[in-house]
Amino acid sequence: MRKLTEKHIILASHNKGKLKEIADLLNPFGIKVTSAGDLGLNEPDETENTYVGNARIKAHYAAKSSNKPALSDDSGFSVEILDGAPGVYSADWAETPNGRDFSMAMSKIWNKIQHSPIPRKAKFCCTLCIAWPDGQDEISEGSVAGEIVWPPRGTLGFGYDPMFTDDGMAQTFAEIEPREKHLISHRASAFNKFTKYCLGS
Ligand code: IMP
Repeated sequence: MRKLTEKHIILASHNKGKLKEIADLLNPFGIKVTSAGDLGLNEPDETENTYVGNARIKAHYAAKSSNKPALSDDSGFSVEILDGAPGVYSADWAETPNGRDFSMAMSKIWNKIQHSPIPRKAKFCCTLCIAWPDGQDEISEGSVAGEIVWPPRGTLGFGYDPMFTDDGMAQTFAEIEPREKHLISHRASAFNKFTKYCLGS
């Protein structure tokens, strides 16, 4: 795998929750992160139906536009009994004319599954793509399995965190401190692979 030697990269995302998590994860490596949003870059359309496809679109677009290596994260929440939905469409399920509403998106899921048997299995998936301006890229993937809880609990985290408990945990992802989530999340798992192969840690 190609090594990342640059100390300043672009995060190909406008999502502030992801920026905070990824900046925290890269900080120990002395890598500074600027978001595509802060550079005023557009968000390319995510036209693929896989995490890898969409992660590649975002990372390559940001790398070409900024002339720096760009890291993208395409992630989502998959509910087993819904055949993996919302999955790559996790952000879309929260869209409203006034922006994203994850309380609404969580209720949408709950309305579809509330009569299904317990445990209601779900997982978070994350694909990271680091792309260089010359067109090369590397992919790392991770996931974390657990269960849906209802009603949602907790105010930390973002997105679908309040309705998910990692297998064996009592608290939701929105009830644990970010540093604890960084140890066990789908993003952490993808990240560990990225740092091992691309940063040589
Ligand atoms: P995208 O990768 O920007 O297309 O959107 C991924 C969507 O998946 C986010 O907007 C969240 O709704 C959801 N998601 C991804 N990772 C997490 C997480 O760690 N916690 C909660 N929701 C997440």
